[in-house]
Amino acid sequence: AVFDERPKPLAGKRAVITSGPTHEAIDPVRYIANRSSGRQGHAIAAALAKLGADVTLVSGPVAIADPEGVSTVHVESARDMLAAVEAALPADIAVMVAAVSDWRATDSTVQKMKKKPGEAPLPLQLTENPDILKTIGHHAQRPHLVIGFAAETQDVATYAADKLTRKGADLIVANDVSKDGVMGGSRNQVMLVTQETTEVWPDMDKTHVADKLANWIAGRL
Ligand code: CTP
Ligand code: CA
Repeated sequence: AVFDERPKPLAGKRAVITSGPTHEAIDPVRYIANRSSGRQGHAIAAALAKLGADVTLVSGPVAIADPEGVSTVHVESARDMLAAVEAALPADIAVMVAAVSDWRATDSTVQKMKKKPGEAPLPLQLTENPDILKTIGHHAQRPHLVIGFAAETQDVATYAADKLTRKGADLIVANDVSKDGVMGGSRNQVMLVTQETTEVWPDMDKTHVADKLANWIAGRL
């Protein structure tokens, strides 16, 4: 093996990351989901591990490989994702990148739903999912650094600042998902919002965003 001599500023630090979408079952064959690929969250998990952190990645269903040097836990629903994140505490760093489904089907059926000839389709009743970032931001075992993302299509800075306060986060990384190709794509253009400062980063590869964010985290710990 090649001897890696890069400095390890996050050695001895524990990090928990969420990534990807969640799948919320409607019946055994159908679910509610979104366009998240997991690329940004997985890249952040890998970047923190490269800086020496002990990383647990809690991933929703994605088509990409588990990152190297990271312990990956696979989940489907928002409720399972929250349980896996809490099981990874205590941690020094939490980065909640997952595009958690805001709602789940109120009652998922055990049997596949069937069309009934001549009958109107049943309305889909939804229940709000737990907010994982907000739970961790106000947790008895709150990590020292709690970071969230914000997917917005308008008024990015305003909504990000609101999420920062409401969810008890130290940093919100906001991205404008109205831009084509951000959600599910390989590039990202983000704005970092803390209580004190707002910083805009240029458009770059998601792996580059991840490396810069890992350095930002190392500088803050
Ligand atoms: N988040 C979470 N659990 C949820 C919803 C969101 O942990 N049930 C986290 C996301 O991982 C992200 C942050 O909260 O870090 C913001 O997610 P976003 O979808 O932008 O915000 P919401 O609070 O869901 O508000 P809305 O979708 O209405 O803008
Ligand atoms: Ca949401």
